[in-house]
Amino acid sequence: TGLVTYDPGFMNTANCRSEITYIDGDAGILRYRGYPIEQLAASSNYLEVSYLLAKGELPSKAEFEAFETRVLRHTHVHEDFRRLISSFPRTAHPMAIISSAVSALPGFYPEVFAVAGEDEEELATVLLLAKMPTIVAYVLRHTQGQRMLDVDPENGFVDDFLRLALHQVRGEQFGPEVVAAMDKLLVLHADHEQNCSTATVRSVGSAHTNLFLSVSAGINALSGPLHGGANEAVLTMLEEIRDDHGDAKSFVAKVKDKSSGARLMGFGHRVYKNYDPRAAIVKEAADSALEALGARDELLDIAMGLEEIALSDDYFVSRKLYPNVDFYTGLIYRAMGFPTSMFTPLFAVGRMPGWIAQWREMMHDPTTKIARPRQVYTGPGERDFVSLDAR
Ligand code: CMC
Repeated sequence: TGLVTYDPGFMNTANCRSEITYIDGDAGILRYRGYPIEQLAASSNYLEVSYLLAKGELPSKAEFEAFETRVLRHTHVHEDFRRLISSFPRTAHPMAIISSAVSALPGFYPEVFAVAGEDEEELATVLLLAKMPTIVAYVLRHTQGQRMLDVDPENGFVDDFLRLALHQVRGEQFGPEVVAAMDKLLVLHADHEQNCSTATVRSVGSAHTNLFLSVSAGINALSGPLHGGANEAVLTMLEEIRDDHGDAKSFVAKVKDKSSGARLMGFGHRVYKNYDPRAAIVKEAADSALEALGARDELLDIAMGLEEIALSDDYFVSRKLYPNVDFYTGLIYRAMGFPTSMFTPLFAVGRMPGWIAQWREMMHDPTTKIARPRQVYTGPGERDFVSLDAR
């Protein structure tokens, strides 16, 4: 059995080898398959990045077109599947419905339940990428008591997702700047090596669980407020500060007094001990997206003020706490018309390519073993059972 190392949260334990994403947390560097996140955010798009992450190389023009066409052909969901979503109470949290819906997908597409070979793996990849935005849009429709619209692949992938999700909220199509901003946010979320949800997907998948059920476990992990739930928590925090007359200083004081239990949501990261490169891109995008939407938001001013206070405060500086990707994303989603409860589902749409790529990589790595950590036992030593009457 040998010596077991106690490493809570796997701070120092690598559970896999991976060629997908490189992070240098001290320098604030993030690359997918070697390509800097700044270049991908500026010039690529969600489907191209999905291809890159899953297959390792950027597609040629013909390869990209074939992939895009195939994904667009599968964005619709079965009529019964819509009913499955509708059967949930309207008040259910969207993440609960979404994880159930993703678990249910292989029930509707039994040919992918056993992801057995290259073709099945490719089909499972396409089905998940294609149907996830539709599921998320329909869940939003359902929780708002609105009709689910039919997909229209002619619109393009991200554009049609925004239409399915928000048409009734806005009553008009979004302009290209807004569609581009959404696409960019999805690219920024696409992978982040062994974060909690991805490690969960690998852990579940290591039992040779199929891609759908592994990813659905990742969705559950993402829903936690310390992970994907943080973007929702940031908005709640900013609203709280707004309602307290915009007093960011006393909120920061409360956070520093640890007994309050409050954290500055959207700040800090296990790996980044420098500015999260994604946060820098989102901050810039927030400014221009809000302008394109004509939605100047006082919460953006509060967020920027909060960031300024924190970055010059010794508490945050000495602990190397910087804004992470979640700090500004919610402001853009809110300006687009998404309710706060949909922020984490949007993160899930973004992270889907990473979950898929990591699952696929794991399944093809001959060194993969079933995830089975050891423990340090701290319970009682051997003792004799006492029958109920004698206790
Ligand atoms: N506000 C105030 N103090 C903080 C914060 C924060 N947001 N984050 C960390 N600290 C303090 C913490 O109290 C501790 O102080 P001390 O050394 O005096 O005990 C120190 O900084 C180290 O914190 P930690 O909790 O040991 O760090 P971790 O690596 O275990 O946690 C984290 C990382 C992201 C969970 C944490 O920074 C946090 O809770 N942040 C707020 C939630 C958030 O924004 N999460 C989104 C993460 S990025 C996207 C994603 O993964 O979904």
